Amino acid sequence: MIKDISTDVAGHPLIFNGDIRLRKANTKILLNKEQLDEFVKCKNDRIYFIEKYVKIMVAGKGLTYPKLYSWQKKMFKLFDGDTRIAMILPRQVGKSLSVALYMTHLMLFNRDMKNGIAADKEKTAKEIFLRIKEMLYHVPHFLKPGIVELSKTKLDFDNGSGIVVSATSETGISGFTCSGMLLLDEVALINSNLWDKFYASMEPVVASDPNAKLVIVSTPKGYNHFEKIIRGAREGYNGYSYFTQPWDCIPMRDEAWKAQKVLEVGPEKFSQEYACVVGETLVEIKNKITGEIKKVSMKELYSNSEYK
Ligand SMILES: Nc1ncnc2c1ncn2[C@@H]1O[C@H](COP(=O)(O)OP(=O)(O)OP(=O)(O)O)[C@@H](O)[C@H]1O
Ligand SMILES: [Mg+2]
Repeated sequence: MIKDISTDVAGHPLIFNGDIRLRKANTKILLNKEQLDEFVKCKNDRIYFIEKYVKIMVAGKGLTYPKLYSWQKKMFKLFDGDTRIAMILPRQVGKSLSVALYMTHLMLFNRDMKNGIAADKEKTAKEIFLRIKEMLYHVPHFLKPGIVELSKTKLDFDNGSGIVVSATSETGISGFTCSGMLLLDEVALINSNLWDKFYASMEPVVASDPNAKLVIVSTPKGYNHFEKIIRGAREGYNGYSYFTQPWDCIPMRDEAWKAQKVLEVGPEKFSQEYACVVGETLVEIKNKITGEIKKVSMKELYSNSEYK
């Protein structure tokens, strides 16, 4: 491991607000050649940086450095090349965390990257923000900027980058201009009546910067506004790039896992939340009273109260 720095050039500690894990703003530091080379390497190679310096919770291993899944690397490439991305992904595969990892790298190694996080609930958005904050704890001082401001909903670095957390309201993040990435997480769970106004308030946040990225991500929930965006992305008519993954896109998810999950949650829920089935896709359903089994489309399933 490369030796870290703990003081500025005058010998003062780099501690932010009494927290030794964070670095205070606007300090003059001196990096040796090894640290400088490592900084440049991390800036240019996001995957190297994450796998070497960012600790996350890994099932069975606790807090540790992750080995990124191949789909996460593919997703990062898509983020690098596109500015409007719609992603439909199974439950509990690392959706939120993957975007958080990308956002963290964007802020640490670039100037003036203003990011935003919103979700179906403010609590969900705050949790993602908290995970980013915790990621920072383990990154050495020589690889991270100083902190100007840190609260439960806002982070500002002295390189001009930062994050704000937004509530899912009709007004969105008022007065905020995004130059980095705006994440809208769990979009399928946002109330459909609120969605149009929420989206109308969020879109301008990224519209004024041609490089700003808007990422819409969710596990599907029926035939609603999210399904529409995904369909438009998949069929290429709404300006969004499309990204999806199968239910077994992470290790440990094999046929035995699937069988157990279907038992736990039922085939309909599995189809929706793990196989990400929506729209015209046919699913087999069983009438609880008559025992009759028939095939219906997901669209029918969610628009016909008979099946609810
Ligand atoms: N590459 C990886 N290796 C190991 N664990 C990972 C990796 N990426 C993410 N994880 C872990 O996967 C778990 C689920 O992550 P996350 O909450 O981001 O998933 P999600 O798909 O957003 O879940 P949900 O459907 O509940 O919103 C977390 O514990 C996270 O640390
Ligand atoms: Mg999530």
